[in-house]
Amino acid sequence: LNQPVIIVHGGAKEIDPEKVEPSKAGCRRAADAGWAVLERGGSALDAIEAAVRALEEDGTFNAGYGATLNPDGVARLDAGMMDGATLNAGAVAAVETVRHPCTVARRVLEAPEVLIVGQHADRWARENVSQEQCSPGDLISPEQRSTWQEKQKAGAFGPGTHDTVGAVALDKNGHLAACASTGGTGDKYPGRVGDSPIAGSGFYADDGLGACALTGEGEGVLRLTLGRVVLDQVSSGRDPDGAILEALDQLQARTEARAGIILLTPDGRIGWGHNERDMAVAYRTTLMDGPAAFTNKMEEK
Ligand code: GLY
Repeated sequence: LNQPVIIVHGGAKEIDPEKVEPSKAGCRRAADAGWAVLERGGSALDAIEAAVRALEEDGTFNAGYGATLNPDGVARLDAGMMDGATLNAGAVAAVETVRHPCTVARRVLEAPEVLIVGQHADRWARENVSQEQCSPGDLISPEQRSTWQEKQKAGAFGPGTHDTVGAVALDKNGHLAACASTGGTGDKYPGRVGDSPIAGSGFYADDGLGACALTGEGEGVLRLTLGRVVLDQVSSGRDPDGAILEALDQLQARTEARAGIILLTPDGRIGWGHNERDMAVAYRTTLMDGPAAFTNKMEEK
């Protein structure tokens, strides 16, 4: 049995050469943050929250601070989290005034609700997780501001980015948890929501099946409920990487969408893969002295 174990990702997309090292470093920091929790006997939920908080505050990724801006210049954030022991899930969508949407999702997970959206989610966060409150401007990095200004000048908001961050962990007690967090697509109509806050699509965790987090074209992932599909395949005996390839093939054949997936099986086997060109990933197991980080599956061989 391989436990504890953590795997994190910083999104599947074409990673520019100058972003390769920052992406690996950001994923390593996130895996370290999660590992520190797991090593001292903490829960998988606490570990993924620590990991995703690190990814959300790293301006390299499309989540939290530095997320992509919508055409109206506002970052709208989605996040979801699930506990494999209880099947409790929590998510928020289209929030504009929250520094760490994963932490708000965690609090929703502990409440009766599963998903809260828009200005109501911002208010729920203010009332229940007030320390996470920020102004919309606090989420904007200089890089995203200038990208948005260039698009404004060109009058062109193309298909844009759709990458996401995520984490999956198995703790010393054998419990799994999964989390996804994103700024969604750069060109999105305000209120558009992708796969990331939807259990069974952008993330899923069930101690009996496995746990996963996804990144990629949210509409395609939603149509196939790809998170649940990949875990069903792995629980029916496919090896983790094989199950991911099969799920991504189905996604491409049925919707032409591209994506990336990280997953853990209940006995701690790791799977990850992408049909986007690149994907930033880091993971650590008890057999490793520190996290291994990659920006393409081919580097792992
Ligand atoms: N995968 C993120 C999104 O489509 O919103």
